[in-house]
Amino acid sequence: MEGKTVIITGGNAGIGKATAIALAKKGASIVITSRSETKAKEAVAEIKKQSGSDKVDFVTIDLSSQKSVREAAERLKAKCPKIDVLINNAGCYFSELKLNEDGLEMQFATNHLGHFLLTNLLMENLKAAEKARIINLSSIAHKSTRELDLNDINYQNAAYDGWKSYSRSKFCNILFTRELARRLEGTGITANAVHPGGVRTEIAEKNANWYTKLGWILSKPLMVTVEDGAKTSIHLASSEEGGDMSGGYWVKCKKYFSNRPSQDPETAAALWKKSEELVGQEFPLS
Ligand SMILES: NC(=O)c1ccc[n+]([C@@H]2O[C@H](COP(=O)([O-])OP(=O)(O)OC[C@H]3O[C@@H](n4cnc5c(N)ncnc54)[C@H](OP(=O)(O)O)[C@@H]3O)[C@@H](O)[C@H]2O)c1
Repeated sequence: MEGKTVIITGGNAGIGKATAIALAKKGASIVITSRSETKAKEAVAEIKKQSGSDKVDFVTIDLSSQKSVREAAERLKAKCPKIDVLINNAGCYFSELKLNEDGLEMQFATNHLGHFLLTNLLMENLKAAEKARIINLSSIAHKSTRELDLNDINYQNAAYDGWKSYSRSKFCNILFTRELARRLEGTGITANAVHPGGVRTEIAEKNANWYTKLGWILSKPLMVTVEDGAKTSIHLASSEEGGDMSGGYWVKCKKYFSNRPSQDPETAAALWKKSEELVGQEFPLS
């Protein structure tokens, strides 16, 4: 991947950091994003050491904050005039209902809306690459969502449940991927979604109640390593297939079926429209 520039959100930890190391080893220039400068610097040093590459940099971003996403997008555009691969990898889990600074439910705001805004703000730089790729980290957890109530983002009319809300955000990742792929048809840019497997990270420990945290920790022996969890992202970022196929949901480096409601084009279009409303900007793309 010599000469290619790859941006990986949440590249300071877990699957994102393992993906960064592997792609740096393949010769790509890597820019990770992290919400903490300290964590970013530590991760950059580790990625450089483990990959033997010097072409690793970072930009700080809090994906839950639209203001932070807009500021970081400017810095990323200046740093990377051409973006060959954008891996929307960052993600969070919250056991209790929490609203972000924009007044939106945290998992929807971070896992979906932050990446929706970032991707669209970086579009010109993605178009500047010959055949750019957008890779969105979703999850098999999307399967628990079969309906999307876009009028109740903050669970005012339904009880909040951490896993249901996580599932909804990962369901949105697939709808966003499909709508993006549809709008980018003919541009040479591909968009694909990934389920990385059950991966031994700390995602469900950081903002989890004690029993969720305990359940997650007890399940860890059954999970795969971060290196294994990164394989599908790496495949889509570096293989020929990843540059040719678009709109898919991928598991273990193969195209797979996401649940039927996540394949509905009307729901995908409605989510795009709602997301535009929530960020206060239209992104027609086509
Ligand atoms: N682990 C699994 O079994 C699994 C399964 C299916 C899908 N996934 C998906 O895989 C992706 C990576 O997760 P992981 O398991 O590697 O988790 P992780 O180790 O917790 O890494 C998540 C990354 O996202 C960052 N992040 C969280 N909230 C953020 C915010 N508001 N702004 C900016 N960055 C933020 C984290 O930063 P901090 O280090 O500062 O927290 C971290 O860098 C996620 O999208 C997740 O939904 C994971």
